[in-house]
Amino acid sequence: MKYQIREMTINDIPDIVDGETRIFGETLGFDMFYSELSLNPFAFYFVLEIDEGIRGYIGLWIDKEHAEVVNFYIDKEFQNQGFGKMVLEFAIKLCEMSKVPMISLEVREHNDVAIKLYEKYGFKFSHKREKYYKDLEDALVMIKDLR
Ligand SMILES: CC(C)(COP(=O)(O)OP(=O)(O)OC[C@H]1O[C@@H](n2cnc3c(N)ncnc32)[C@H](O)[C@@H]1OP(=O)(O)O)[C@@H](O)C(=O)NCCC(=O)NCCS
Repeated sequence: MKYQIREMTINDIPDIVDGETRIFGETLGFDMFYSELSLNPFAFYFVLEIDEGIRGYIGLWIDKEHAEVVNFYIDKEFQNQGFGKMVLEFAIKLCEMSKVPMISLEVREHNDVAIKLYEKYGFKFSHKREKYYKDLEDALVMIKDLR
C-alpha cells in the first residue's frame, strides 16, 4: 500500500465532494472548494492519497491568531488503521510551523471516535454550540493550545 498526504488541487474536488457526501451525507460543495483553493490565502487543504485514490482530506484555515479545522474525514474502508492520526498530526505540525497559537474545531457531541482522537492530540473541550448542525445535534468546540 502506497500513501501520501499532499496539497489538494482543483482536480481533486469531485472526489472530495463524493467522499464528503458518502461520509457526512452532505458536502461543502464544489463551488466552496473551488473558491477556497483559488481565492482564500488562509485556506490549506490536503488530501490523503492511498494507491492513487483519494481516501480522505483535511481542510484548515490558518491566520496569525488562530487555526481552524474546516473538515476532516477518512474513507470508511480505511478508518481505524492509523490514517486519521497521521493526517491530524500532519495538520498540527503545519500549525506549529506557522507559529499560530491555537487550533479550534467543531465536532458533533456524539462523535465519540473523533472526540477521542482530538483528545489524544491535546484538544480540550471549550464550549458547546447548541443545535449547530442541520439535524439539531450540538457541536462541541475543542481547542488545542500551541503556546
Ligand atoms: C474521525 C476519523 C477521521 C478518524 O480516522 P481514523 O483513520 O479512523 O483514525 P485512526 O485509525 O488514526 O484512529 C485514531 C483514534 O481514533 C479512535 N478510534 C478510531 N476508530 C475507533 C473506533 N472504531 N472506536 C473507538 N475509537 C476509535 C482511537 O482513539 C484511535 O486511536 P488509537 O488507535 O491510538 O486507539 C474517522 O473516523 C472519520 O473520518 N470519521 C467520519 C468523519 C468524521 O467524524 N470526521 C471528523 C469531523 S469533526
